[in-house]
Amino acid sequence: MDKLKVAMVGCGRISRMYKQVFQCLSDQIEVTWAVDTKRDRAESFAEGFTNCKVTTDYRDCFGNDIDVMHTATPHNMHPIIAIDAMKHGINVLTEKPMAITLTDADKMIEVAKKAGVKLGVIFQTRYVKGCVELKKLIDEGKLGKLLAARSYLSWSRPDEYYSASDWKGTWDKEGGGVLIDQAIHSIDRVQWLVGDEIEWIEGSMGNRYHHAVNVEDVAEAFVKFKQGCLYHLYASNCYSYNAPIQIEIVGEKGKVGLLQDMAWVELNGEERYEIRDGYDGLSVGPSYWGSSHITQVKDFYKSVREDLPVTIDGPEGRRALEIVRGIYLSANKKQRLAVPFKDEPVTGIK
Ligand SMILES: NC(=O)c1ccc[n+]([C@@H]2O[C@H](COP(=O)([O-])OP(=O)(O)OC[C@H]3O[C@@H](n4cnc5c(N)ncnc54)[C@H](O)[C@@H]3O)[C@@H](O)[C@H]2O)c1
Repeated sequence: MDKLKVAMVGCGRISRMYKQVFQCLSDQIEVTWAVDTKRDRAESFAEGFTNCKVTTDYRDCFGNDIDVMHTATPHNMHPIIAIDAMKHGINVLTEKPMAITLTDADKMIEVAKKAGVKLGVIFQTRYVKGCVELKKLIDEGKLGKLLAARSYLSWSRPDEYYSASDWKGTWDKEGGGVLIDQAIHSIDRVQWLVGDEIEWIEGSMGNRYHHAVNVEDVAEAFVKFKQGCLYHLYASNCYSYNAPIQIEIVGEKGKVGLLQDMAWVELNGEERYEIRDGYDGLSVGPSYWGSSHITQVKDFYKSVREDLPVTIDGPEGRRALEIVRGIYLSANKKQRLAVPFKDEPVTGIK
């Protein structure tokens, strides 16, 4: 079978990890384009790939040696690049978050459908083996009715993380702070594990520590699922290190959880057991990123090659974004927000 031709758009920090993924998958793909507005970054990404062209404008790739475009740019650029690419018949696997507003996310979903191409959204931590097993167990009803869930993220982002970037720590390009960038993974995992529609969201946010920027560096929220589960969420990037994320789901018959990628299970009358083999033998990237990018990328390529539904497609990728946007709007309005809600601009913390 012919190799898939792939382009990397955005050759910044995370592209180093993609480079390793592409090298591992070199039997199935050929990297044909490296794109970054900063040419030197694209050039450095392209090193080591034969026939990889370099450009500063993603539009140069259109109609030219490309089956899949990966986007890992500032968040606000994801919908612009993805929509343009999909209109040119290119499949897109975008980094999280797919967009910084629900309106843009909806446009992406619509364009993918109209163009008949695949749109995938990276939420690699769902692919960790323990997480997949917890999902199966919950869907089989082993926990009974779900009562509560919680996620606790305390990570560290020093001031230099923001000062070294021209887009992080901004509402117009990053779309917020700790929620939309760091906590969105745990929010995604919880909503996926619970597997229910949301009734309402009520949250608060603040900036207590990173005064050079005005996005939130701490937030908490309650998210009420329609069948009754109450999700408690806390996120801060003011800690001294990237501590393992804690997730717990409680049901009438037991509880399950994750400590970063180590899953544990406690069912009524049975001893607690742990699932530690997180990566299905494949692991690339820092451990706090969840190191399962390669599994999701492979899954996306399979859906392109065999014309299968994408596991985390546009509507799936939108779910965690809806929670994040709901918290922002609820925090600024200082009121509970029924879901679905009308997305509105958020330009600061009120
Ligand atoms: N899934 C994860 O665990 C994870 C981890 C880290 C980052 N990310 C995501 O990856 C994306 C990139 O993050 P990063 O930390 O690598 O950021 P970065 O700032 O290091 O890299 C972004 C790159 O995009 C380039 N760029 C900007 N506009 C562009 C355009 N129009 N066309 C082409 N290139 C353009 C910049 O020059 C820069 O090199 C974000 O969406 C981020 O949330 C995901």
